Amino acid sequence: MDDGKRVPPDPQETFLTEIAQNQLAPLWQIYQTLVIEEPNRVPPPVIWRWSEMLPVIEKSADLVTGEAADHRVLILDNPHLDGPPATSPSIVAAYQCVLPGEKTSPHRHTPAATRVILEGAGGATFVDGKRCDMHNGDLIITPNWTWHCHENDSDARAVWLDILDLPLVAKLDAVFGDMGPVDTFPENISTLPDDAFSRGGLIPVSTAAAVRHSPRLRYPWSEVVATMDAAPAESDGSRTVAYCNPMDGSPLTPTLDTRAIALEKGHATRKLRTTSNAVAIVLDGEGVSEIGDQEIAWGPKDVFTLPHWAWTWHRSATDTAHMIVISDREMLAKLNLLREQVA
Ligand SMILES: [Fe+2]
Repeated sequence: MDDGKRVPPDPQETFLTEIAQNQLAPLWQIYQTLVIEEPNRVPPPVIWRWSEMLPVIEKSADLVTGEAADHRVLILDNPHLDGPPATSPSIVAAYQCVLPGEKTSPHRHTPAATRVILEGAGGATFVDGKRCDMHNGDLIITPNWTWHCHENDSDARAVWLDILDLPLVAKLDAVFGDMGPVDTFPENISTLPDDAFSRGGLIPVSTAAAVRHSPRLRYPWSEVVATMDAAPAESDGSRTVAYCNPMDGSPLTPTLDTRAIALEKGHATRKLRTTSNAVAIVLDGEGVSEIGDQEIAWGPKDVFTLPHWAWTWHRSATDTAHMIVISDREMLAKLNLLREQVA
């Protein structure tokens, strides 16, 4: 019952109000949510199976026509992540399909892309005007702010997986785009023929302007397989190669690191966890991966996420199994934020 006496205001509550009114926040109340013992927002893995994706991609080829065909792209939208569609916290992957005779408009943007060709029989991506042929398994980069477009001058549809650092660049609000039109392209070391950079240990000495990415733009799958076959096997039987900028051994672009892994039948890879986020693309073979507390079975052209800080191993069930793993690993290493543990 109200006896008419006023309750004096709680000085603590009054102070918190005063703090908020001054655009301040009390760290002592939120410290334990900010400085945590280890990452606590690890999403579960997600797999996009080729057998389920192909009919959707084919439908997009039928129904997405005219101007919209320039961006006939299906984003692999991870349901465990908030915000705009993304595949991993720092990476977005997407299927793009270009039909015979189609040509997309040249444009450029600050998010960098790496493409893995899933179905290709001779169409091409042009990067700063340089032709990069698209055959199954080939990897083509379109670095930050390079002009790029696609032209399918083959008789078969081309389908590839785009992998971009867009979520990262967008979080930093550093997305710039330029839709052209454009008639001329920059000339620099990356517009020299890829052949000039394709022999290990030998690079051209050139006065052409340097670039802050690999001047080699296309990495044919056949070369990657040959290098993997020649690579020494780890104790778990796997063989891994890193796609490198031939000038200095760094990743192809500053934000996206690419590796190809060959698995030995029946042998699980060593259990590893890392602070980097990755997307895995199966090139051939079948097998299983344990990721966190989930085991997923995979086959050719399946794509799945390798979430950060989840214990992970892979095992092939077939004589050969190859996958490409694209991650933010080297970027984290540069920031001194890469932690990796082997069980
Ligand atoms: Fe683009």
